[in-house]
Amino acid sequence: MGKTILTAKHITKLFPGMKALDDVDFDLQEGEVHILVGENGAGKSTLSKIILGAYKAEEGEITLDGEPIVIQGTKDALERGIAAVYQENSLVPYLDASQNIFLNREPRTKLGFLDLKKMKHDAEELLKTLNCEYIDVTKPVSSLSVAEQQMVEIAKALSFNPRIIVFDEPTSSLSEREVDSLFKQIHRLKAEGLGIIYVSHRMQEFPLIGDRITVLRDGKKIATVGINDCTNNELVKMMVGRDVSQVYVRNQTDFNEEALKVEHLCDFDGRVNDISFNVRKGEIVGLAGLVGAGRTETAELIYGIRPIKSGDVTVFGKKADLKNATNAVALGIGLISEDRKTQGLALSESIAQNTVAVSLNKIFPNFFINMNKIREIAKDYTNKLRIMTTSVDKKTRFLSGGNQQKVVLAKWLSYDPDILIFDEPTRGIDVGAKMEIYNLMDRMASEGKAIIMISSELPEVIGMSDRIYIMQEGSIVGEVHRGDDNFNQEKIGELMMLGTGGANE
Ligand SMILES: Nc1ncnc2c1ncn2[C@@H]1O[C@H](COP(=O)(O)OP(=O)(O)OP(=O)(O)O)[C@@H](O)[C@H]1O
Ligand SMILES: [Mg+2]
Repeated sequence: MGKTILTAKHITKLFPGMKALDDVDFDLQEGEVHILVGENGAGKSTLSKIILGAYKAEEGEITLDGEPIVIQGTKDALERGIAAVYQENSLVPYLDASQNIFLNREPRTKLGFLDLKKMKHDAEELLKTLNCEYIDVTKPVSSLSVAEQQMVEIAKALSFNPRIIVFDEPTSSLSEREVDSLFKQIHRLKAEGLGIIYVSHRMQEFPLIGDRITVLRDGKKIATVGINDCTNNELVKMMVGRDVSQVYVRNQTDFNEEALKVEHLCDFDGRVNDISFNVRKGEIVGLAGLVGAGRTETAELIYGIRPIKSGDVTVFGKKADLKNATNAVALGIGLISEDRKTQGLALSESIAQNTVAVSLNKIFPNFFINMNKIREIAKDYTNKLRIMTTSVDKKTRFLSGGNQQKVVLAKWLSYDPDILIFDEPTRGIDVGAKMEIYNLMDRMASEGKAIIMISSELPEVIGMSDRIYIMQEGSIVGEVHRGDDNFNQEKIGELMMLGTGGANE
């Protein structure tokens, strides 16, 4: 490892009513990937943002190449060579990928006009280094998938040619294929001597790229350890302050009545092509597949937010007419969306308001709304899901990423739908809270709910599902049942990849 590039000493950051960081020390060396871990709300993003100039610390000192510096803002940080891939999507939705990457520093021709050709070419080159040549850089980024948008964010950070890059949960929306490409890049950047700060909840990633790990808990630094100096269990214990064993709970129940049947479903974009499957009461059915396999799109069709071209959806024996989400909700269908920003959460509303957003009419059938009752319900869910907040009246904008995701869960759990689609339910959620979500899913199934689970983490799909359908390029290419010989990671992984040329292509 090389010399120290950056140090942060005695960093303390206050937010109203709380200490997000309490006397934290951190340092970064040349050619190093320094991983930051900790539970949701531990302070990882806050520390990142201080180093990126997005937040000002109340106390502490930062040095760059041994010189004390005061970072005046994100622009100042960029000029000093510190770039970021933020946890929350920071792209401008109506601009295309090339415009986003070169925003406010667009290349010009000699005559001073925008050099659109160069911009497009450079953007394509950057995406190519990430093995993402398939992304159309001339389409508004809002029309790209969440994973594609994330790759554009990464390309943007690289375009600054920084010395330090902060990745705040870059892989939470990526599938294996993109993660592979990203890790190859990270290894290249390391070899070039960059310093990389890497925030993630995915422990299986750490040995693949990490050099050192710093653990934060409740805003305090617990330890900095070498990647090989600590077992996973020790790491988890440092994060949550107690023993947690990562086991999936699935109390097998009987499945009888069919809750949802989907026949020959197609959308207009060819993303979903002749899909048929069913889910019974009490059953958890997994949809596995690579990003782009059409899992999220299938969920959107069933939830009425993607127009159905042909095919039938039958809910408890009745043909459903799904024109919008209101139809779906009225039929008892809920979707916990992968994109909490656009579909799941009102950021300027409080935790309490978000918690009852769908269930308001159900809780107050007479329209007499009682704010205290709403707060009670929200408090119940903040306890159950361990949402870290000072009050249920706090705007969700001020919660950490993982805690925002938990509020989306609370919203649907309080509505109590009969059929619930979980799309990447544990993305960005810490180890302790994941367990609680698995427990909840199991309990809901035991109560007779029908559950569809979409997840890019195969161990989780296999751990929780009673049956799994494997999707590929908009079609179902296989079905496996719990207890069968092929209900394992190798067989399912093979089916996911079949005909696509493998994950590393
Ligand atoms: N702008 C803000 N205003 C008020 N409180 C904030 C703000 N940003 C963060 N916080 C609070 O600071 C604490 C630390 O948040 P932070 O986002 O750093 O957590 P994190 O470790 O990144 O968690 P996650 O894994 O969920 O992303 C949280 O309790 C959060 O509610
Ligand atoms: Mg965070």
